[in-house]
Amino acid sequence: MATISERKEQHLTLAVALGDGQDGGPGWPDVHLVHHALPSGTPDGVDVSTRLLGRRLPIPLVIAGMTGGHPAAAELNARLARAAERTGVAMGVGSQRAALRDPSLAGTYAVARSNAPSTLLIGNVGAAQLLDQRTERALSAADIRRAVDMIGADALALHLNFIEESVQPEGQTNAEGLTAAIGALCQDLDVPVMVKETGGGVSGPVAATLASCGAAALDVGGRGGTSFRAIEAQRAQEHAHATKRGIGRALAGWGIPTPVSVAWCAGVLPVVATGGIRSGVEAAKAIALGATAVSVGRPLLECAMRGEDAVVEWIDTFEAALRAALFLSGCRTLADLRTAPRVVLGDTRHWLTQLGLTGGPGGGG
Ligand SMILES: Cc1cc2nc3c(=O)[nH]c(=O)nc-3n(C[C@H](O)[C@H](O)[C@H](O)COP(=O)(O)O)c2cc1C
Repeated sequence: MATISERKEQHLTLAVALGDGQDGGPGWPDVHLVHHALPSGTPDGVDVSTRLLGRRLPIPLVIAGMTGGHPAAAELNARLARAAERTGVAMGVGSQRAALRDPSLAGTYAVARSNAPSTLLIGNVGAAQLLDQRTERALSAADIRRAVDMIGADALALHLNFIEESVQPEGQTNAEGLTAAIGALCQDLDVPVMVKETGGGVSGPVAATLASCGAAALDVGGRGGTSFRAIEAQRAQEHAHATKRGIGRALAGWGIPTPVSVAWCAGVLPVVATGGIRSGVEAAKAIALGATAVSVGRPLLECAMRGEDAVVEWIDTFEAALRAALFLSGCRTLADLRTAPRVVLGDTRHWLTQLGLTGGPGGGG
């Protein structure tokens, strides 16, 4: 079996190699903002700021938590952090479990704070690690506080990745007592907890449970972007683990598409839309459906592999496209988007209709 550090490195390589579409797209082309042929003002005059986890962001973007815990991660996190500091976006780090188990790896995460002193920085641990697993004892409250202190985190993302754990050869699938453990963590920590799915999406009822646990926000991590089901199925194949590979293949397409999850959870908790967001126009659609901000993973990782400037350039293009989308739909603020007309077609419309959701004004259903 691979060590945590080796596994994290394999995830980077496979995420880039597999790309999007392993579980079908998220459905952003189904969601249309309606063109306003008589816009006012200028795109530069549009206000795209938002508030997330108690902080104001000039652009509603979070660099998704992805890396840390192996040698190549330190430079990637440093580049992402410098780009975040230059542009004002928020940033997450990858799961800090590796450094909690092996403190010599802490620097691969801590570089984020040293390179981004004023950025909204989000720590990361797995919800499964709050519980005793077959091969590993639960992280203690003190361990989790160490994760927060390791990067001077402003908030903690608690990731739910039970699809990945179900397929991963080393997977940890004990969820007995999970809701109570999340509630205890939210009470114990003195930074806000954002619960974060990683490809399966979150339903409205689950969002309500997490709100009652004390979660401050939700990263819906819907189906349609980077697929950890596919990444782990590939790893299982490379490790000749036939059963896990079979589970991975059978679960292809599992999960709530990102736009559906956003529409379902918005209004329950502040929502970060993650999963297959590839442009500022898709971000505008997510915000129209109720998201407070969006988060982007693999594309920014690929930019970071090229260098800090490539990350900044991607974020600048994202912001310009977001401004264009607001300007062309007659909106001056992100709040205006929530009441702007939109049309939802295709599979996304079927999802919304069958769940009794409307997707907002003119959203159908
Ligand atoms: C290489 C890689 C590693 C990741 N590691 C983590 C992780 O440790 N913790 C976590 O919460 N999410 C992790 N993610 C998931 C991302 O935060 C995000 O939810 C996912 O990539 C979907 O966004 P995307 O479609 O824009 O890539 C990882 C993603 C990638 C690409």
